[in-house]
Amino acid sequence: MKLYDALSIIPHLAAVVQHALPPTLRQIWATPRIVFQPLALSRFFMFHVWGMLADGVDQNGRQMKEELITPFASGIVLDLGAGYGHTVNYLDKSRVTKYVALEPNALMYPHIRRIANQAGFTETDGSLLILSCGAEDSTSILSSLNGRRVDTIISILTLCTVPSPEETIHSLANSVLKSGGYFLFYEHVKSDLEDVSWWQSFWAPVWSLAFDGCRMDRPSHVWVDRVRNDEGGEVWKEGKTWGNEGEEKSMFGHKIGRYLKV
Ligand SMILES: C[S@@+](CC[C@H](N)C(=O)[O-])C[C@H]1O[C@@H](n2cnc3c(N)ncnc32)[C@H](O)[C@@H]1O
Repeated sequence: MKLYDALSIIPHLAAVVQHALPPTLRQIWATPRIVFQPLALSRFFMFHVWGMLADGVDQNGRQMKEELITPFASGIVLDLGAGYGHTVNYLDKSRVTKYVALEPNALMYPHIRRIANQAGFTETDGSLLILSCGAEDSTSILSSLNGRRVDTIISILTLCTVPSPEETIHSLANSVLKSGGYFLFYEHVKSDLEDVSWWQSFWAPVWSLAFDGCRMDRPSHVWVDRVRNDEGGEVWKEGKTWGNEGEEKSMFGHKIGRYLKV
């Protein structure tokens, strides 16, 4: 990887900091005790970071999402790390009965509500549920759904952030997803190329500070592919992962995956 490419992350980080730092400093000025609440501070910063980036990221991934999500998402759909709620726009309302937006960052809820309501999903008729727990908390997810499993799990750029990702994927695939359900994901992942992955590990700590714990160096696609049940047997009846052309040498190479549970 060329040094120029490895350093190209710096202007991105600078733009993000330039955008999110002023409101964060104003927040600290208004409520100084927030400096002793690193999680709240990180989420506040991320709320502004994602407010700057979400529309563009969604626009860039539109075609991929139309192919990955629209024909395959059905029934109860669990959207991990819903962010500003963009995924709801790819759901076919005639096939999806409930949109469950799991999002630990409560600042995003007004956006999720607005975009979901526009797409025809409302809390009033029970077709929208916003969950405040993390993706790692399968127990809370299931109890919020009265023990019902979901038909579809979608993760768009979220497995990079969840704690204990391998355990979380195991639990979601085995305990939360229904048999015959789809796990769909689009994630930026650790590169197969040694030099690129070296730079990803180099930048990961800085990146994760700016992006609420997001790690650039996770092979999330491999973890989903390899997940097994508690007896070591197959979880997936079929599944495949593929990439975006031309991203092989990028620090932000994405993998897209569609897995069908046995
Ligand atoms: C990069 S954003 C992606 C948002 C959305 N999926 C999209 O495509 O626009 C990652 C999201 O994951 C959320 N997140 C952070 N920790 C999480 C966790 N433990 N479980 C689920 N989501 C989490 C963040 O708050 C953020 O909204």
